[in-house]
Formats: sequence, structure tokens, C-alpha cells
Amino acid sequence: MTTNNTKDPLVIFTPSGKRGHFPSGTPVLTAARQLGVDLDSVCGGRGICSKCQVEPSFGEFPKHGVTVSETALSEWNSVEQRYDDKRGLAKGRRLGCQATIQSDVVIDVPAGSQVHRQVVRKRAEARDITINPAVRRYYVEVEQPDMHEPSGDLERLRQALEKQFDISGIDADLHVMQSLQPILRKGDWKVTCAVSTGITEGTGAQKPAILQVWPGYHETPLYGLAVDLGSTTIAAHLCDLTTGEVVASSGIMNPQIRFGEDLMSRVSYSMMNDGGADEMTRAVREGMNALFTQIAIEAEIGTDQIMDVVFVMNPVMHHLFLGIDPYELGQAPFALCTSEALSVRASTLGLAIHPSARAYILPSIAGHVGADAAAVTLSEAPDKSEDLVLLVDVGTNAEIQLGNKDKVYACSSPTGPAFEGAQISSGQRAAPGAIEHLTIDPITKEPRFQVIGSELWSDEPGFAESIASSGITGICGSGIIESVAEMRMAGILDASGLIGSAEQTGSSRCFADGRTNSYTIWDGTADGGPLITVTNPDIRAIQMAKAALYSGARLLMDKFETDTVDRVVLAGAFGAHISPKHAMVLGMIPDCELDKVTSAGNAAGTGARIALLNVAARGEIEEIVGNIIKIETAIEPSFQSHFVSASAIPNATEPFPILSSIVTLPDVNFNTGGGDGASSGRRRRRRG
Ligand code: FES
Repeated sequence: MTTNNTKDPLVIFTPSGKRGHFPSGTPVLTAARQLGVDLDSVCGGRGICSKCQVEPSFGEFPKHGVTVSETALSEWNSVEQRYDDKRGLAKGRRLGCQATIQSDVVIDVPAGSQVHRQVVRKRAEARDITINPAVRRYYVEVEQPDMHEPSGDLERLRQALEKQFDISGIDADLHVMQSLQPILRKGDWKVTCAVSTGITEGTGAQKPAILQVWPGYHETPLYGLAVDLGSTTIAAHLCDLTTGEVVASSGIMNPQIRFGEDLMSRVSYSMMNDGGADEMTRAVREGMNALFTQIAIEAEIGTDQIMDVVFVMNPVMHHLFLGIDPYELGQAPFALCTSEALSVRASTLGLAIHPSARAYILPSIAGHVGADAAAVTLSEAPDKSEDLVLLVDVGTNAEIQLGNKDKVYACSSPTGPAFEGAQISSGQRAAPGAIEHLTIDPITKEPRFQVIGSELWSDEPGFAESIASSGITGICGSGIIESVAEMRMAGILDASGLIGSAEQTGSSRCFADGRTNSYTIWDGTADGGPLITVTNPDIRAIQMAKAALYSGARLLMDKFETDTVDRVVLAGAFGAHISPKHAMVLGMIPDCELDKVTSAGNAAGTGARIALLNVAARGEIEEIVGNIIKIETAIEPSFQSHFVSASAIPNATEPFPILSSIVTLPDVNFNTGGGDGASSGRRRRRRG
């Protein structure tokens, strides 16, 4: 017991700074528990697991007002010696369950002994992840059966877990019972259990459950998967649930692609084909199992060591993965079957991992704003931000959030696949050979570019050799955005989105293409390669996509009654490659200081990892999502007028003062009443 008797020795724990007086002879682990110090223990203080290692310090501590003598802790005992002989204890370390307090002492709890240790994230603004997994190991000693007090082995195991670790109401699957009796006897009534500690609150509540029992003390690590199920790719991180370490990451293309490239075509497939939704459910689950097998092989573990899995995904993927027909998501009012978080057995989803593994699916925010957006919220925490942050996850639908610690709004906007290089004449997915960065000289109007797979720019020596294996094949999403923005900055494109003719721009790279003009970036036709151009329909597709994105953001700014945002965070793989300056020249995102536009990388995947490693984050995100104010763009009258204004580059009505201070956009107008330069351009049609 902590006492108020100041004659009792004073114990100070670092780094927490927690302190209290304890009677002489109190084990360090007991003192730590009573003070709420984060000190691990799997074996319940039996000197077996060594998770409770601490490091006492001796000497003068003026900061704490104590002097610690060499005899402040009890003498090294035989249990510590046994452990040291067998496994080795680092110099200066003691087992907290064995060492007892004798006089005032300062005790450090090293990171490896903290239950809720932190995984430090690299980006300054990102939150660290607290390790607090749903599945843990517990070593227990179970009462032997007694003729005089008959009870089942499972009941006595439950009692032991309740008594020794305070976990009550525990479930166990049949496969656990089938192997329980020989395991208990083999372990001489001492066993290690993997227990899912359950989630007590929220819609994703789970009862605690024994997932697996091993005889004696068992140290094999437990693993979990954080899965981001996207419409194009499925990405998974395999994490050690104790250390939080990502031990393997892998991804595959979503096998549903064969039923339709984008979400709506998959919804249509399910509408038009009997059993179409089931077919897609089967496909994604099979793909998922193939991915899990691949990732387990890579990590050299068995898939049955994976005991917990967290999923994030958009609403259509959510329904198809769960085996729910997405029919209602294809038509207004876009009702989800459920937006609540879900906890189910992984086996009910057909997942071939540990037979008792649990699956947790984050809550969805709204009809088109899914669990992936909730994961972005968990990762980027707009609800905790002091400044006003605009969070954009760009995909075929942009999921947009705007908020600060007072409130958060969310909406989705139908950007379509143009930002991913689809619907663009020379567009392609981001893959080797795709142009990803581009600049245009404002005087000569000549482009130079970088291609995925090479560090070199196209006008640098060695470029041709560096891309010999891939060639130059097309333009990916970031490349097309930079191309359009650079064309605007170089005066090849006017604010309405028209490409000038060769005469108007003074560039022979502009040529008449039907009723409008196009701009040649690369002509590889002489060598059998492609002609890579930006056409006016390409510009239109980008204009529509960026106008949809901006209008969604602007609508949320209206709701917030603001004309400016403090920060813009771009999530998703696309966000990681996009250039803030080019995005702003296009008017994709609101006017903002460029250094306040950052990329959050795969924030949805990070959010999934947070929910996997910290079970408390699951309840937290359920509550946050419940408080997010959802805006449906389709019924907001101002969305349309914002869209019209935002179709111009950067915008027909809104000033972009910060952008204007950085870039002067040429005052050109190529809408000369049909004089689109077609005749003059025709002469130079295939210039490379
Ligand atoms: Fe397991 Fe101390 S708590 S060795």
C-alpha cells in the first residue's frame, strides 16, 4: 500500500516522475502498480517473463531531494540469478517483481519494460503511437481439479485469469477447449494464454477471449495486421503487437479491378449481374488471404500467429468485403448498411489467419466518407488541432475534412479518376516510365521532366540510359497536375483552360488537335514509342476534378465561416507526390502558405496501425466520428456555384493572394472566337 507515513522509504519512478512512500519490503512491481507506473508483467510477478526489468540509480539526486544508497533495494536474489544465468540481465538491471524497496530510491523504467511504450512517428506534427494492443500474453497458474470441489479446467483457467490479472467474463472458442486439457497437464498447471482483452465500450465492443493456450511460459511474439483496403490496391502492415514494430509490409492490386476500375463501376456490376456482389466479395477475400500468406512468408511466421487485424476502407469496399450488397450506395441518398465500427471473428470474413483472431473495422463517417477517412482522422487528429486544418485524401473520391479542436466537418467530392492518370489521353498509373514531375521554361516553352525510375531530369546527361529499361510511357497523376500548372505558368494555357495555338504561344509544341490545341511533351514515335501530349480534353478532366475538390473544401470553409485555412494536409499516396505550388496554381486547394501544405503519406494506413496497436484508440475514433459534422455536397446549393468558379485556373472569383505573391500567372486569353490556331498548328502536328 502507498502510505502517508513519510518515514517509509520514498520511491521515485522515472521517466514518469511518479512517487510515493512504501513500507520497507514492498516489491518494486507492487509500488509501480499502485502508483500507476507503466511497468510490464506477463507472468504476474513470478520471475519468469523478465518484462518487469527496472534500473535503480544510486547517489545524490538534488532534483528529487533524495540520496539513494547502494542498499536501497533488497539483495540480488536466486530468481534473478536464475534468470541471469539462463538469459542474461543487462548490467544494473533488476527484476521489479523480485527486488524490494529498503530505503529511498530512484528507479528508471526502461522503454522495453513499459507496457504502453511509444512508437515515435517521424513527422513532427504526427502523434506517437501508444502501444496498448488488444491481444496480450498472460502467464497463469491454474488450480488443479479437486474431487471435492468439481469444476471444469476452463472454469479454473478463467478464475486464474480473473484473480491474477483482473480479466473477467472471458470467452473461449471450441478449438481452445479441444486442446486445453493436455496443455494444462503438460504445463503442470502453468500456462501462457493469448487473450484478447476485449473492448468494453462503443459499437465495436468485444468480450475478452482466450485465443490460444500454451504449456508453461511461452514467448512467441503475437502479431496483428493493419490493412488498408483500397479500390485499386490492398496494403497491409504486419506488426509485432508487443513492440509495435512493423515487421513486414506488402500490397497487392485489388482483384476486384477486373469487375470495374472505379467504385461506381463495381456498384454497377453488382446491380447488373445476379450474384455480382458475391463474386466481388469472394475475389477480395481471396486476394486478402493471398496477401496475408505472402506477408507471413516474408516475415517467416505462420499465418496462425496473426491474432488481430484492423481494416480501413471506403464504403463500397466496406460493403463488398463484408458481403453486403452495395446497391444502396449507388443511388441517393447513399445509405450505408451501417456506419458503426464492427468487431467480428476474422474467420467469419473467410480470413485464414489464427482461428480465433478478431477483426476490427473502423467506423465510417458518412455515405461516401468511409472508415479510411476515419483512419486519416485518427492519424492526423484534426479534432485536436489548435489551428484550422484542411485534410484531403485524394482518390477517385476526395474525402475532405476541415476542423480544429472545436469542431470538424467532413464531406466527399466526386473528383473522378483523372488525378490518378485515368481519363487522360497519355495518362497512366504511377509506374516506371511515367512522367511524374515536369517544368516548362516560360520563355522557350520547352519542357523538361522526370520519369519514375530515374533521378535524372530529361535534359541531364545520362537520362536516356537511366530510363532504358522502362522507356517513357505516359504521365501519372502528379505529372499531369504539374503539366497543367506549368502550362498555365508558361502562358500556354489560359485561365479558362484553353491551350493556345503555336502562333498564340510562340511554341511549335502547340498544335491543332481537332477543334482545339494540344501541347507535346514527348514524341517517341520515331523509335516506336508513344507521342505524349496534353490535350484540351485532358485539361477539362483535370479542371472538373480539381473544381470538385476545391468546391468541397470551400463548402466546408463556408460552414466554418472562414475564407482561409491555416494548414493543408494531403493524405494518400497521391498526396505524397503532389507539389503544393502546382496544386495551388491549379486552384485545387485553398490559398495557403506553401510550407503549410504537407503530405501525410499513407495516413489511412497509419490510422489502421494506431487502432491495431492501441485498443483505446478504437473507442476514441468511434467517439470522434460520432461528433464529426457530415455535409452532403449533393444537396448544398452553393456547391454548384463554387464548382463553376473553381473550374477556372486557379479560380474565377476567389483571390489567391499568397499564390499571387509567389507566382505571376500570364494574362493570356486564347478564346478568340474560333481562332484556335487549328490551321496554323496543323503544319506542326507531330513535333517531338
Ligand atoms: Fe515477470 Fe517479473 S513480472 S519476471
